[in-house]
Amino acid sequence: MAFDIDMIKKVYANMTERVDAARDIVGKPLTLSEKILYSHLWDGNPTKAFTRGKDYVDFAPDRVACQDATAQMALLQFMQAGKPKVAVPTTVHCDHLIQAKNGATSDLQHAINTSNEVFNFLESVSNKYGIGFWKPGAGIIHQVVLENYAFPGGMMIGTDSHTVNAGGLGMVAIGVGGADAVDVMAGMAWELKFPKLIGVRLTGKLSGWTAPKDVILKVADILTVKGGTGAIVEYFGPGATGMSCTGKGTICNMGAEIGATTSTFGYDESMERYLRATDRPDVADAANQIKDYLTGDAEVYANPELYFDQVIDIDLSELNPLLNGPFTPDLSTAVGSTMNEKAKANDWPLKVEWGLIGSCTNSSYEDLSRASSVAQQALDKGLKTKAEFGINPGSEMVRYTTERDGILEIFEKLDAKIFTNACGPCIGQWARYEDPKNAPKNSIVHSFNRNFAKRADGNPNTHAFVASPEITAAIAIAGRLDFNPMTDKLINENGEEVMLDEPTGWELPPKGFAVDDNGYLEPMADGSGVEVKVASDSERLQLLTPFEPLGDSITGAKLLIKAFGKCTTDHISMAGPWLRFRGHLDNIANNTLIGAVNAFGKKTNFVKNQLTGEYGGVPDTARAYKAAGVKSIVVGDHNYGEGSSREHAAMQPRHLGVAAVIVKSFARIHETNLKKQGMLGLTFANESDYDLIQEDDTFNFLDLNEFAPDKQLTIEIVHADGTKDTIKVNHTYNQSQIDWYNEGSALNLIKKENAA
Ligand code: F3S
Repeated sequence: MAFDIDMIKKVYANMTERVDAARDIVGKPLTLSEKILYSHLWDGNPTKAFTRGKDYVDFAPDRVACQDATAQMALLQFMQAGKPKVAVPTTVHCDHLIQAKNGATSDLQHAINTSNEVFNFLESVSNKYGIGFWKPGAGIIHQVVLENYAFPGGMMIGTDSHTVNAGGLGMVAIGVGGADAVDVMAGMAWELKFPKLIGVRLTGKLSGWTAPKDVILKVADILTVKGGTGAIVEYFGPGATGMSCTGKGTICNMGAEIGATTSTFGYDESMERYLRATDRPDVADAANQIKDYLTGDAEVYANPELYFDQVIDIDLSELNPLLNGPFTPDLSTAVGSTMNEKAKANDWPLKVEWGLIGSCTNSSYEDLSRASSVAQQALDKGLKTKAEFGINPGSEMVRYTTERDGILEIFEKLDAKIFTNACGPCIGQWARYEDPKNAPKNSIVHSFNRNFAKRADGNPNTHAFVASPEITAAIAIAGRLDFNPMTDKLINENGEEVMLDEPTGWELPPKGFAVDDNGYLEPMADGSGVEVKVASDSERLQLLTPFEPLGDSITGAKLLIKAFGKCTTDHISMAGPWLRFRGHLDNIANNTLIGAVNAFGKKTNFVKNQLTGEYGGVPDTARAYKAAGVKSIVVGDHNYGEGSSREHAAMQPRHLGVAAVIVKSFARIHETNLKKQGMLGLTFANESDYDLIQEDDTFNFLDLNEFAPDKQLTIEIVHADGTKDTIKVNHTYNQSQIDWYNEGSALNLIKKENAA
């Protein structure tokens, strides 16, 4: 059902051959990250060494995982590819669209009532195209992947930034946008800039109140939220092997918070134990046969400075529990008196109102059992908890097992709310307030990963601090941000002073994992007869129609907006309330570029309609041009489209009739997304030509019929007074990308090739 052992054996068979070849070609010992990357090249055996941080390389990932919010557009696009089945094993997980309010049973039912058409759509598409489907309530994507699909030495991509969690089981697992997932599902190569490598040597041993979470909180403190950008973080050393597999998952999970491409650990006994405990002894056996290939070469770890671009040392024996926040995950404060000083200096509320335990980051059996050992002490020592507890287990298997073992009951005795096995409060899906925007200033502590303003409850005044589950439990009991369980006493109901003992727990359930219904639906072997239903009046889902090719003659195109300054994918396709329309291109297109500042007038969402002379919103103006059969042009500044890999930021302008985006420079992923949608993504050959663009400009492409790799294009710009400027623009299209353009989109081309 869950994993494909034959596929894994094939990966391992390739791995031995390819790693040996790569070592010869690179001419030095290899890190684990390099072993996985070189053994997953699209072209098979390595034939050249790649330059880290420079070369773009085509890879062949083993798996794809999608969550329910991002899967909608990814699957709608995949349906356009004309393939009968996905090309690599793929799963869909319903976890983001479930609100946390009253507790699991009623919250899950509410989610089903409100998002059933989305869940049904995802289920039927999954069934049709051979995709494993995890129902709402089955669990959070990354915990479920770790329990069922992750395997040492594998490569996977997922449409969620915390896909990196699977590094805890020795994978190179990377979060991507839907367009990349579609490529891989459709059997195309997946491109990535060959990452730089950061080595983290872990020595010593975790003990007492310190947990794996503190390792990544420390790394975030050292590297900051940008320090891992473009790099794989590889952990090694005796401290790494001494840690549980799920603890490693926590560390890799929060690699996303330092901007790392991904993080990973070499295969070791903790991973073998986890594989066997999660009913995958054959994966463990297969991994044991090629152990040396599933970790970095010994020479690398002996002299890491020679092989990594950067090396960080952390002695786990010296590490203390940390609280990171508020509002950013890299602001570290040691638990205890330092927090008292900092909170007073910064006016952070010292009173803690909630302690939330769970999310994809920290919801393993070990996490819940250790946190419950702290909670149990509140019961045993007559302590009344000062803050409220909320728990969201990572999977039904963890929930069922922790319920069976009496762990959840401990929290329930403290009046904890046990939320659905889903993201809930981690993604703003926490119905904590009637009116979150005007809710009071307060502090919460959670064991999640992100703590940006409004992330948990929509309240900009909630100060969220990230900590390990055990520290979260202790602080929730004490109700104070500056509580240090290692030194501070609490007063119990009898007026006695008591202290909390160090947490204890089990790495894995002593009686084994168990589950009644894990929430998994296996797709039909032949799904060709499955009908995917989308109501024509649905406001959340809309089947896509293929984009028409723009052709080799674009003339009379009107300027839609000249974006001024920063224009990220959030400016192009805003998130927040618009997330609801992620599966409905026409509806979500109503947010197109509404966050971009118009260079003329410096307002947002206020542009001139050249056909009427009137000013209006960007989407309405684009629709007016489209209705009149006039193509439109977007002009932008530097690094246009930075931010997320959201394909909506390219699909929406395309849907609204934008033919070309001409900018000083692009964020590369967005540039590629424009190409995939069959649009023109161009850069000014002469940057200052940006200044030539006026509000009433019309664009004529003079030599688009000669569109070819490495050849500039020429555009005539006709101004309102009839004067003209002729400019050159550069592009980075190779021949296959020009073929995408000629066919109207990459998916149109795949479909055509399939039909041939
Ligand atoms: Fe969900 Fe939060 Fe993880 S949104 S996937 S629990 S980061």
